Amino acid sequence: MKHFLSTGHLSLSQIEELLDAAMAFKANRRVTNELAGRSVALVFLNPSLRTRASMQIAVYELGGNPVLIEPGSTSWSIEYQDGVVMDGGKTEHIAEFVRVLSRYVSAIGVRTFAELKDWAHERTDPVLSAFAKYATVPVINLESAMHHPCQAMADMLTIRERFVPEKKRVLLTWAWHPKALPMAVPNSFALAAAQSGHDITIANPEGYDLDDELISQVQRCAESAGGSCRTVTEPEIAFEEADVVYAKSWAPAAFYGQPDAAHASELRDQWMVTADRMARTANGIFMHCLPVRRNVIVTDEVLDSPNSLVIDEAENRLHVQKAILASLFK
Ligand code: CP
Repeated sequence: MKHFLSTGHLSLSQIEELLDAAMAFKANRRVTNELAGRSVALVFLNPSLRTRASMQIAVYELGGNPVLIEPGSTSWSIEYQDGVVMDGGKTEHIAEFVRVLSRYVSAIGVRTFAELKDWAHERTDPVLSAFAKYATVPVINLESAMHHPCQAMADMLTIRERFVPEKKRVLLTWAWHPKALPMAVPNSFALAAAQSGHDITIANPEGYDLDDELISQVQRCAESAGGSCRTVTEPEIAFEEADVVYAKSWAPAAFYGQPDAAHASELRDQWMVTADRMARTANGIFMHCLPVRRNVIVTDEVLDSPNSLVIDEAENRLHVQKAILASLFK
């Protein structure tokens, strides 16, 4: 089965092929017929603006029919555990949910965030894996506990549009946030940037490292693509000569299972992306997956500057997702 769960399953040439296709869709935006006669289920277990709107429009513009499903809201709540006695609040087991959908649609997109309860369990992407296990049609990851590959592909397209296919110094920098957030976006961004051969710096406070195995995978991918990966804990060093600044907050593994865990308030100013920090870069571009907290993650001055590409990045979600969807039915 041809699922799209992480860019880690793709070769560099497959990534480049998808980016080429996305650029072609962007250059000639119209309704085509790659998904003619097909429906695609879009299962959202969590909120979304960009992913939901861009996926619905992507399916429509490829000539298909998007079917939006919100378990626990406008459709039944889902039980994931095997062998469980279902006498609680959950109505339908995932074994039936996914197999029934597979009889109706040609692909299933699913958004299922980390719950930040049990890192060892959630890092295995249990819900996404269950969708992939039971589906008899392709599954597309619309952000899971560990990965957000559609976002990462849009990020790579945004970098490529700005710099043509060229190796760049890419900074992934942690930012303070009032809430603990999952690691899917930084994981997928670091992985896709490494696969693309960029020189990556991952900057975060001590104790906030991304997953060890993920970092090892990023380092392996960077080296084999001719790039590099380093980690630093000092924001001032991190910004030096960067071509790309990608800001994102995430909670470290130690926060999982700790509902009251909060980022120390002194980290807020130390890690915000400011004009002074951007001035240390090589006229670097600013990127963020959105939604972003203004003057918490990044100042208005940076976010509203000509070097901020966040709106292009969000637009590119549509074009890369059209390329991904079309590739599943070639
Ligand atoms: N970046 C992103 O996935 O946005 P949404 O959460 O709004 O879908």
